[in-house]
Amino acid sequence: MKISIFGTGYVGLVTGASLASLGHEVLCVDVDAAKIELLQRGVLSFFEPGLREIVQLNIEKKRLQFTTDIVKGVQFGDAIFNCVGTPEKEDGAADLQYVFQVAEMVARHAGQEYKVLINKSTVPPGTARECAMRMKRVNSGCEVEMVSNPEFLKQGNAVYDFNHPDKIVVGAESVKAFQVLQKVYHGLLKMYMPLIETNWETAEMIKYANNVFLATKISYVNELANICDHMGADIKTVTKAIGMDQRIGTKFLNAGIGYGGSCFPKDVRAIIAVAKEKGYTPELFEEVDNFNERQKVVLLPRILAELKRVSGN
Ligand SMILES: NC(=O)c1ccc[n+]([C@@H]2O[C@H](COP(=O)([O-])OP(=O)(O)OC[C@H]3O[C@@H](n4cnc5c(N)ncnc54)[C@H](O)[C@@H]3O)[C@@H](O)[C@H]2O)c1
Repeated sequence: MKISIFGTGYVGLVTGASLASLGHEVLCVDVDAAKIELLQRGVLSFFEPGLREIVQLNIEKKRLQFTTDIVKGVQFGDAIFNCVGTPEKEDGAADLQYVFQVAEMVARHAGQEYKVLINKSTVPPGTARECAMRMKRVNSGCEVEMVSNPEFLKQGNAVYDFNHPDKIVVGAESVKAFQVLQKVYHGLLKMYMPLIETNWETAEMIKYANNVFLATKISYVNELANICDHMGADIKTVTKAIGMDQRIGTKFLNAGIGYGGSCFPKDVRAIIAVAKEKGYTPELFEEVDNFNERQKVVLLPRILAELKRVSGN
């Protein structure tokens, strides 16, 4: 199958190279000419285990190409992945300008051909619906169908995660669109990877539900650790014991300075912002966010005390 990928950042490049490894013909598009020039030579601007190898192999096998030509990118794929960034705005909401830019460009250049545009970027519930509306506004005869297919990979394990997902989530509004995605992921589905087919908003929500749950678990364990410090209790033994309860599990139970990285803080704030826009204030999630900010300084006095001890002052 012919697949285009818009955005060759972390998610786009892993998706493109992995889909090429599954046998698809993939064209990756980016507005960053310097990045594309490097990728055409098989050079990556970041390190991810196993990624360089599959990029180079698929370039050699002529299953993976790179371009800055947006029109070519739209016309190439029967399925087009939107993997552009969705950074945090000042008010915490997700900045969707790049996602909408790609949707409108796809509508403009797809003519009346049937294609699916798949949002893989993390976007708040309602975004696929908004993209569909914008595409019709740009091209009233547009036959491109929106699909939501959030990505759950972790940096540092991205290639493995893409190829061994806990689940593949697909939100669509027609049988035809679901069938296209089954074809895209045939190589994984034949290995019995679980597939969740649902509507746009549910698929979009699943990504936030996943990340906010993990962020909450981290804040929960840090709160426990802070209490343990005042009680003479050992947090490591407490978390070891509670992790043995299978309803809790052993993962994400390490106390520390709170969560960070490129996704958790922005995703927690984005779902808060979109809920508030709809008139609901998610107080628990707001507290998870606030608590995480406070946690960054909670350990500071202890770190300073340790440093003093080491330097002998
Ligand atoms: N990084 C992760 O671990 C991770 C995991 C899961 C989901 N996500 C989500 O995936 C999305 C992408 O994340 P990322 O880390 O890959 O972002 P990134 O910033 O690394 O890459 C985005 C790329 O999109 C390109 N781009 C911007 N506008 C474009 C356009 N109009 N046409 C073509 N390319 C364009 C940029 O030049 C850049 O190369 C975000 O929504 C993020 O939240 C990220």
